Amino acid sequence: MLPHSTLFILLCVAHLPAPSPALPFEQRGFWDFALDGDGGGMMMRDEEEGSAIEELPPPELPICPFGCQCERRVVQCSDLGLTAVPKGIPADTKLLDLQNNKITELKENDFKGLTNLYALSLVNNKISKVHPRAFVPLRYMQKLYFSRNLLTEVPKNLPPSLVELRIHENRIKKVAEGAFSGLGSMNCIEMGGNPIQNSGFEPGAFKGLKLNYLRISEAKLTGVPKDLPDSLHELHLDHNQIQAIELEDLKRYKHLYRLGLGFNHIRMIENGSLAFVPNLRELHLDNNRLSRVPRGLPDMKYLQVVYLHSNNISQVSINDFCPLGFGMKKTFYNGISLFGNPVNYWEVQPATFRCISDRLAIQLGNYRK
Ligand SMILES: *[C@@H]1O[C@H](CO)[C@@H](O)[C@H](O)[C@H]1NC(C)=O
Ligand SMILES: *[C@@H]1O[C@H](CO)[C@@H](O)[C@H](O)[C@H]1NC(C)=O
Repeated sequence: MLPHSTLFILLCVAHLPAPSPALPFEQRGFWDFALDGDGGGMMMRDEEEGSAIEELPPPELPICPFGCQCERRVVQCSDLGLTAVPKGIPADTKLLDLQNNKITELKENDFKGLTNLYALSLVNNKISKVHPRAFVPLRYMQKLYFSRNLLTEVPKNLPPSLVELRIHENRIKKVAEGAFSGLGSMNCIEMGGNPIQNSGFEPGAFKGLKLNYLRISEAKLTGVPKDLPDSLHELHLDHNQIQAIELEDLKRYKHLYRLGLGFNHIRMIENGSLAFVPNLRELHLDNNRLSRVPRGLPDMKYLQVVYLHSNNISQVSINDFCPLGFGMKKTFYNGISLFGNPVNYWEVQPATFRCISDRLAIQLGNYRK
C-alpha cells in the first residue's frame, strides 16, 4: 500500500526524472482511496499530529452514517448506491470517500461542519450540480477528487487551501475567467478526458495559479494553450488533436521539465520552438506525423528522454541529437525512441548518437507498415 501512496505523491510534485529509463508517462490510474485501505501514507502525518488529541475519549458516542465505515477519521462510503451525500458524517473526519455512488448533486449544507476534512473523493458519481457554497465549510481541504462525473464546469468557490484537483472525465467544455481564482496553494490539476477545445479556455481561466502539474490529455485541443500558468513543470497534452507547434507556443513555459505531446497530429515543430523550454528533461512526441526530428535537441542541455516513435520520420541526420564538435560533453540522454518510423535504420550513421554513452538508451527497431 505504501508504494501506491508514494507514487501518488510523486505524481504531483513534478519530480525530475530519475536516471533510469522512463516509461511513457501515461496517467497511472487514479489512486482510489479504497486501494489505500485506511488512507495509507497520506494520513500518516496527520495521525502523528493528532495523537495527543486521541488520548482523550470523545465525549459522545461515535457516529457514522448508515452503511459507511468510520475509523481513524476516515469515512468510507463508497459503492453504497447513495444518491446524496449522507448525513451524520463525524465532524473530525479527515478523509471522506464517496466514490462509486449515484450522487447527482452537492447541496449547500452537505459538508457543513466538516472543517477538518483534508481529502474528499467523489469519483464516479453522477454529479452535475454543485451548490456555489457547498465547499465553503471545507477550509482546510487539500485534495478534491471529482473525476468521472457529469460536471460541465469547474465547481465554483473551491477551497483556497486546495492543493490538488482532479476533474478528469467530466463534460467540461468551458473554463471561465477566474475559475481558479484565490487558489494560491494549488499545485496540480488533472482535467483530461473533458470535451474541451482551445476556445473553451477563456482568457484568464488560469489566472492566479502557480501550478506545477497540469494534465489536459484526451481532450479536443488543436494547439498548445497559450494562457496556462507559467510556473508549470509538467504539462501533459497527449491524445489531443494538436497539428503543429508554432514558434511562440512554448514561450511561456520556460520552467517545463516534462512535456507530453504524444498521440496528437503534429506534422511540424517550428524551428526555434524548443529553445523556449531549455530545462526540459522529457519530451514525448511519439505517435504524431512528424517527418523529421525536431530542430534544437542538441542545444537542450538537460534533455534525457525523447520519444519520437511512431511518426513519419524518413531521415535522421548526424546532427539531429548531439552537439557539434569533438570532445563535446556527454549528454544525459537515457531514452531516445525512433522505432515505428519509415527511416532505414542502417542508413542512420552511428555518429548520430556520439554524445550518448549508453547505447541501450536508443531504440531504433524496425518499421512495419
Ligand atoms: C530549420 O532549420 C534547419 C537547420 O537547422 C534548416 O535546414 C531549415 O531550413 C529550417 N527550416 C525553416 C522552415 O526555417
Ligand atoms: C510521410 O512523409 C512523406 C514525405 O516524407 C509524405 O509524402 C507522406 O504523405 C507522409 N505521410 C503521412 C501519413 O503524413
